[in-house]
Amino acid sequence: MTATDDRADALAVDPEYAHIQFGAVQPMRIEIPDLFQALRQIDDRGGIARGWFFDPVPAYILTRYDDVKAAFLDTATFSPAATQKVFSFPLMGPTFLGYEGRKHYVHRKVVQPTFSKRTCAEYVDSLLVPQAHAVVDRFCERGEADLMKDFAKLYPLAIVGELLGLPVEDWDRLARWANDLVLGGDPDGEGLSADQVDARRKTSARDFREWLAPLIDERRGSSADDTLTLLANGLVEGQPLTDEQIMSFMLLLFPAGVDTTWLSLGTMLVAMLSTVGAVDELTHKPEMRHWAVEETLRWGPPVALQPRLTIRDIEVCGTTIPAGSLTMLAIAAANRDPARFPEPDRWILERRPTQHLSFSVGEHFCLGSHLARAELLAALGVLLERLPGLRLTGSPRFWGAAVRGPDAVQVEFEPTAPRKSKRLSR
Ligand code: HEM
Repeated sequence: MTATDDRADALAVDPEYAHIQFGAVQPMRIEIPDLFQALRQIDDRGGIARGWFFDPVPAYILTRYDDVKAAFLDTATFSPAATQKVFSFPLMGPTFLGYEGRKHYVHRKVVQPTFSKRTCAEYVDSLLVPQAHAVVDRFCERGEADLMKDFAKLYPLAIVGELLGLPVEDWDRLARWANDLVLGGDPDGEGLSADQVDARRKTSARDFREWLAPLIDERRGSSADDTLTLLANGLVEGQPLTDEQIMSFMLLLFPAGVDTTWLSLGTMLVAMLSTVGAVDELTHKPEMRHWAVEETLRWGPPVALQPRLTIRDIEVCGTTIPAGSLTMLAIAAANRDPARFPEPDRWILERRPTQHLSFSVGEHFCLGSHLARAELLAALGVLLERLPGLRLTGSPRFWGAAVRGPDAVQVEFEPTAPRKSKRLSR
């Protein structure tokens, strides 16, 4: 099958899923203010609910740790391929997010080198810490900031932009695309209809593709060590990738790497700054910072609900989910399953959770998990070092449901002089 056939095939939605129209359902934009309370109610009533928030498309939602984990692993029933055919392929084209088996393995392997545990450890001193300092330089003299806007949004963008090989001079456009490709607009909603959100996502995907095309040409034959160059010169099963395939890779990697880490950073800051003694402990015990990251991922996962289409009937918690159903796997609820995590609603530094599902589990386990963890850890160290007396001044509001994070993290700290750190400095 050629790349063109592949794309055409992916864009043709199977008749059995035709009731789920891309655009009618925008799971990334669902807003559930009391998400955890709502999920707990479902859990109390048996761990499964149907038709809860997805009108007009009925959906099931699973809340229990064991069920969510089993669903991620049971790809023969909760099919990533069928899911992405409906959700992401129409926007970004076919990617390994919706491939399975060998096809998934060979495509994921091409970009694996950028995201391995060993490489990510090397980025800490060369890229992550310097970028964190450079971003802090922009606001440290003020003595106050919104750490979502002033830090969390810029820092992952600068890092992922550089690793992927995207020119950071196009900062503003990259920031807009990171937002629009996933959310189709600003997180505060702007009162957009599902169709408007769909239109925005499609426009941003088209613009991103047009912007990428000359960059791909430029990287063919180049020896730079970024991901775009890797893709422009890489082979899958002996064949070079087409421009279209490379664009799809980038449409997956770029927003996946930016939006998630941005939201996690905000969540970690809110949790730390709202927990008595946490700033002090993390300042004086750097070895606990790793656990602040893990407990944050457990307590407030940025990918809170992950959609899956079922391709055969399955019984979960005494309910039959018929083939062709949309099911939301509630990572947020699984991570707070009281059967696995005592006092689940509290952010507890000493908990040291090792089995949360925030990066999912199985074949599609997050490719960027090592990078995300390293970014969060490096950022925490730099913020504690550079912003003495850090304290929360506002009351952050968490928005979203499928993707979720705080709207703002207003803080005060003792003003300090910028270090004129190199790297990002606009
Ligand atoms: C805190 C940060 C992050 C969280 C919570 C997160 C979460 C997730 C989750 C839940 C999945 C599974 C999707 C599914 O099963 O359908 C996933 C997959 C993925 N993530 Fe992340 N992610 C994060 C950061 C990143 C970063 C920094 C990158 C880097 C580019 C990245 C790239 C990807 C990719 C490419 C996949 C698809 C993997 C595959 O299908 O084999 N993520 N992520």
